[in-house]
Amino acid sequence: MNLISVKDIRKVYRVDKERVVALNRINLDIEQGEVCCILGTSGSGKSTLLNIMAGLEKPTKGAVIIDGQDIAQMSEKQLALFRQLNIGFIFQSYNLMPTMTATENVALPLMFRGIGRKERMKEARRMLKRVNLGGRLSHKPTQMSGGQQQRVGIARAFVAKPKIVFADEPTGNLDTKTTLEVMEMIVRMSRKYGETLILVTHDQEIAQYADRIIHLVDGNIVSDEPNRSLIPADSTPAAPRTETNVPIADESAQ
Ligand SMILES: Nc1ncnc2c1ncn2[C@@H]1O[C@H](COP(=O)(O)OP(=O)(O)OP(=O)(O)O)[C@@H](O)[C@H]1O
Ligand SMILES: [Mg+2]
Repeated sequence: MNLISVKDIRKVYRVDKERVVALNRINLDIEQGEVCCILGTSGSGKSTLLNIMAGLEKPTKGAVIIDGQDIAQMSEKQLALFRQLNIGFIFQSYNLMPTMTATENVALPLMFRGIGRKERMKEARRMLKRVNLGGRLSHKPTQMSGGQQQRVGIARAFVAKPKIVFADEPTGNLDTKTTLEVMEMIVRMSRKYGETLILVTHDQEIAQYADRIIHLVDGNIVSDEPNRSLIPADSTPAAPRTETNVPIADESAQ
């Protein structure tokens, strides 16, 4: 069964007298465990589509069915709860809580699951070690590099094992080498937990990490195909081992 069905989604923005058709008529079915990329140039409607699929924005028309529920019909309160229980986000600008440590940031989604503080902090530390940040547990966002902050963001997105992780240009603020490390980490985590990943990018190379590439042009899907030149998630040449870049430990080894 499809995990996500996007049915005839249309989004029209009105600003004063101007009307922008951000999404024209979008139909998509995404299965549990798929790693999908929404690829398109700036202004093609990628973020609008992602935000509508994640219930952050309402469509002008159409339905988004996740796990049998039409999220476009939910109230804000129902949506907030639905997101807390089912969805993880990775943002271009990390969006970490500035006053909280790395561990507290990662532990946050577990609070909504009713998990006690001690258990939350333990699980957050475990996740941070898996993104090779075992040496930065008590650091606040301003005390970390961009790549480190994004790895905290990845740990936070996956910590509660949500059904779906949405990532909007997650490497947009990172250099080339860090981009590869971060992309591999996101894809590896998704595959490890069998999670559905929906990744938005304008970058053809980043799209090659996905199983499926959905190409958007001016609010229309112009192609939706399996990726024939998939980059395996462990393809980066081994970097010199440092305190912060030891490979993700296999859970069975812990
Ligand atoms: N809140 C808004 N109000 C009015 N117009 C908007 C709004 N958000 C987006 N748009 C318009 O909708 C279109 C699609 O925007 P969107 O942000 O989805 O593009 P994008 O593909 O994510 O681009 P980028 O790669 O630059 O992030 C654009 O033409 C944009 O101007
Ligand atoms: Mg965007």
